[in-house]
Amino acid sequence: MKVDPWKVEGKVDYEKLIKEFGLKKIDEKTLELIKKVSEEKNEKLHLFLRRKLFFSHRDFDIALKEYFEGKKFFLYTGRAPGGKMHLGHLIPFLFTKYLQKIFDVNLYIQIPDDEKFLFKKNLTLNKVKEMTEQDLLDIAALNFDEDKTFIFKNSEYIKNMYPLFLKTAKKINFSTVKATFGFNNESNIGMISYPALQIIPTFFEKNRAVIPCAIDQDPYFRLQRDIAESLGFKKNVNIHSKFLPPLTGFEGKMSSSEEEKAILLSDDEKTVKKKINKYAFSGGKNTLEEHRKYGGDTSIDVSYIWLYYLFEEDDNKILEVKEQYESGKLLSGELKAMLIEKINSFLKQHNKNKEKAKSKLKKYMYEGKLAKQMWKKIHE
Ligand code: TRP
Repeated sequence: MKVDPWKVEGKVDYEKLIKEFGLKKIDEKTLELIKKVSEEKNEKLHLFLRRKLFFSHRDFDIALKEYFEGKKFFLYTGRAPGGKMHLGHLIPFLFTKYLQKIFDVNLYIQIPDDEKFLFKKNLTLNKVKEMTEQDLLDIAALNFDEDKTFIFKNSEYIKNMYPLFLKTAKKINFSTVKATFGFNNESNIGMISYPALQIIPTFFEKNRAVIPCAIDQDPYFRLQRDIAESLGFKKNVNIHSKFLPPLTGFEGKMSSSEEEKAILLSDDEKTVKKKINKYAFSGGKNTLEEHRKYGGDTSIDVSYIWLYYLFEEDDNKILEVKEQYESGKLLSGELKAMLIEKINSFLKQHNKNKEKAKSKLKKYMYEGKLAKQMWKKIHE
């Protein structure tokens, strides 16, 4: 298994990552507290928490404690344009949206429109620029709090961040990033300085940053904790998601460069149907007879797992699906049909929201209350 910000290979062993990265599982006590906050806002505990898609954290219990004492945190997450967005990419954003709603806090979304250019050999800046506009609309389509959300591209906001970039970069030496990210003599110097850029937004406020992200992003935020206090800021807090398994099975994570393994946000209904039917790894038996007799295996069935983590919100319904599939009543094709229906209705709604996202995006980037404030600020 290999998990770093650029590569996820093999079957991911989350227990092992928790140990290696020095994390904690989100325990029942923490869930109870989040549930309490949710219910005050008439929200259920989020599906991703109920089903443990978000499964680990570093110091989120401290952020919660501070919150109950009246000290607010802020949220920070991001997405580097450079490939097409797929369903898995939405997970941190959907979850962040929920956290913003229940905690009623500021949210910063970084769009590093420099990262993938530096890290990917054959990617041009023009291509990144093109993809950035698409990604921005996909993200804006999710509906955040217009007055409490600031979405920014590094290429535009760098001027305001520059003093903080310098201070951050000066605190981190080459041997540290080499050890943390595996840089070597062939790494270009843009790559080597990039970690400072991803850390900067954790310093946008003196309050504590809470960062929902997929677990591969953790190295950046471990590094932040070594330097934050010496710069006069608080150590950041993380809350991590697992990866949605690729359609083809449990190896690695979904990647939009291997299109058959992912459902892209831009896939149309037919493509979704085709991909699921053709590629979604099935835990069903080879023949109808065997399947009826022995039932399917939900622990390896990707369609079931996607329904479980993302698309079947109803806790009773998902249990029923599990029982029926495992008893052989429900066939693999029927399970796939359920997933296809759910994905297509999700994407239909998403595309509708995307049509209205342009004016929202303007608010998040330039005209909303927080955005306006941020453009006036030079981060010293
Ligand atoms: N490195 C992330 C990516 O490859 C983008 C990113 C920037 C990010 N800032 C972040 C992700 C903060 C999570 C949290 O997409």
